[in-house]
Amino acid sequence: MRIFSGIQPTGAIHIGNYAGAIQNWVRLQDEHECIFCICDYHALTTVNDGERLRRQVADAALDLLACGLDVHKCRLFVQSQVPEHTELAWILSCCASIGELNRMTQFKEKSERSEFVNAGLFTYPILMAADILLYKAELVPVGEDQLQHLEVARVFARHFNNVFGQTFPEPQSRLTAATRVMALNDPSKKMSKSIPGSTIMLTDSDEVIRRQIKKAVTDVGGAGETMSPGVANLFNLLKIFSTPETVAFFEEQYKEGALRYGDLKKTLGDDIAAKLSVIRERRQELAKDPGLVEDMLVDSAKQVRCLARQTLDEVREKVGYSPLKSC
Ligand code: TYM
Repeated sequence: MRIFSGIQPTGAIHIGNYAGAIQNWVRLQDEHECIFCICDYHALTTVNDGERLRRQVADAALDLLACGLDVHKCRLFVQSQVPEHTELAWILSCCASIGELNRMTQFKEKSERSEFVNAGLFTYPILMAADILLYKAELVPVGEDQLQHLEVARVFARHFNNVFGQTFPEPQSRLTAATRVMALNDPSKKMSKSIPGSTIMLTDSDEVIRRQIKKAVTDVGGAGETMSPGVANLFNLLKIFSTPETVAFFEEQYKEGALRYGDLKKTLGDDIAAKLSVIRERRQELAKDPGLVEDMLVDSAKQVRCLARQTLDEVREKVGYSPLKSC
């Protein structure tokens, strides 16, 4: 089974990305053929500073390798190194209805936040579908916020298959135990770089990690019948960063009404800090040799580009384009 997923290099990676997606990527690379992408074409919808984008791509590569992606087991590449993504995106845009794109909640949210709403923000899900379909990937490990995009990727694939003949599998999602990590300071919203104080970054120090968890919102106005969103969020993180025994212990305490949030936060803060300190150390090691990291990315891009060309040759033939004669 071939697996594809991607992340935008739009700033430091946070524990929401890790818990919702990257942890799964690291696990899946041992079992399947995995292709992971640093999506800098997508990032252009919000980043418009070349130097910054270059830096953020390098940072994302370091973060992902430090989390445990291993180029001997998976491919990790930068999207713009495989321009076939954009060619397939154009072809798929002719299979995508504006009605489908208009339904996308992420577009609505993002366009409300910006004064200049670029067309790339609107057609974003088409490029994302192209990313996946270019490799005929069957499984896409993502967090919950990407499920709607995945749903339309299936719609576009189906449309293409119906019109031009069976070509693409319809990709399915794979979720983790913490599919939607909420903002630590406002558990009604998704943890995100765009909400100040909501995150813990992979590069944060032990002190910052413990402080952020200590400050996390739990119950507002006393415990009710059902678990409050803030406490549920801490339990979700516990499932990712702590042992099953620790999770069972605190769940039992909660059931008995004996749970002290201070104890839960202390354990969770310590466990996140322990996990992230290993990642931070690995990152520092990797950062000493940027040339090596660059080579890894280029090597992966070369390998996946061969797969991309195969799909695109097939697609070009089906839609009525001549084989490329210029290369
Ligand atoms: P991005 O860069 O926003 O996020 C990368 C991954 O992290 C997950 N994630 C979360 N999971 C749980 N809780 C959260 N608070 C949280 N925040 C982010 C996301 O669901 C995602 O899996 N459009 C994608 C990138 C992309 C892609 C693709 C993904 C481009 N092409 C093809 C899959 C397949 C995005 O912006 O993810």
